[in-house]
Amino acid sequence: MACELVGFGMYVPPRVLTNEDLEKFLNTSDEWITTRTGIKERRIAEEWEKASDLGFYAAKEALEKAKMHPRDIDVVIVATSTPDMIFPSTACFLADKLKCNKPMAFDISAACSGFIYALTLAKTFIASGQAENVLVVGAEVFSKIVDWNDRTTAVLFGDGAGAVVLSRTNNDKGILSAVMHSDGSHWGSLYCPVGEKIKMRGRETFKLAVKNMADASMKALEKANLSLDDIKLVIPHQANIRIIKAIAERLELPEEKVFSNIHRYGNTSAASIPIAMYEAKEEGRFHSGDYLLLTAFGGGLTWGALTIKI
Ligand code: UT7
Repeated sequence: MACELVGFGMYVPPRVLTNEDLEKFLNTSDEWITTRTGIKERRIAEEWEKASDLGFYAAKEALEKAKMHPRDIDVVIVATSTPDMIFPSTACFLADKLKCNKPMAFDISAACSGFIYALTLAKTFIASGQAENVLVVGAEVFSKIVDWNDRTTAVLFGDGAGAVVLSRTNNDKGILSAVMHSDGSHWGSLYCPVGEKIKMRGRETFKLAVKNMADASMKALEKANLSLDDIKLVIPHQANIRIIKAIAERLELPEEKVFSNIHRYGNTSAASIPIAMYEAKEEGRFHSGDYLLLTAFGGGLTWGALTIKI
């Protein structure tokens, strides 16, 4: 049984933090941030706002676009590294806020790869007949775990949420292939201990991100019997514009085939791919029947790629 992506939603908090704002309290510059990362600004949640609050607005829109009532959702999966609490899961809070009808609900912790890990699981639930409709949300409030005195990480991250509804279908649409990996031996490249702030070895992470996303992308294409020529748009995790460009170079892809909105939101971790997908769709960058390639990389280390027919 195949699964179709039937609704997309996103939400970012209205508060904008620009590079110029960062210059006021960090030893950094708009010039450094722009040339090294491509980021110009990011969104910051209010103090009281949690991942489930951002996820709520994104999920509500995705459900509306899918013309679906929350009670029709069988499974809610939230990909997040900034959960509302250690437990209950953010997915439980979200399902309650949406007034779903007691769905299976749980979080996935796979850092920036969380959303594509979650999509892979959603497909499995639908393909096995366990679920008919699955809500997958990437929701993050990284502003709460960033060390605002550390210029090497503070300039990179932002808050936001994106959501997709997947439904069982009889047509040939949906997730065609998925290649997901992890390597815990490199955990020290990028991590956040409980109750502490993010720590990252930037250069090391950069190199691993480029190699692993490019390799996983090729494997996912092969698994789906597709070539890069078949792909309408590549939607990579938005960590750094230089990483995105390096992947495009490795795959010999023209820039217009690779989506990026990092200048507006920075790195929103598990929310970055669903936000990018939403904006790419709104901008008319893909349509029904097109093939997409999604790829992500994050702390864990975790990484992967998947192909989708829209
Ligand atoms: O989402 C999960 C995956 N995350 C990633 O993939 C992130 C991967 N890493 C990166 O994107 C990049 O490594 C960074 C953007 C984090 C850093 O860029 P870089 O080109 O690798 O710079 P660097 O760490 O090698 O630092 C170069 C210089 C250093 O100064 P010295 O030692 O050369 O004097 C840093 O101290 O830039 C300095 N620097 C800064 N200067 C101004 C580091 N951060 C800043 C800053 N403003 N914000």
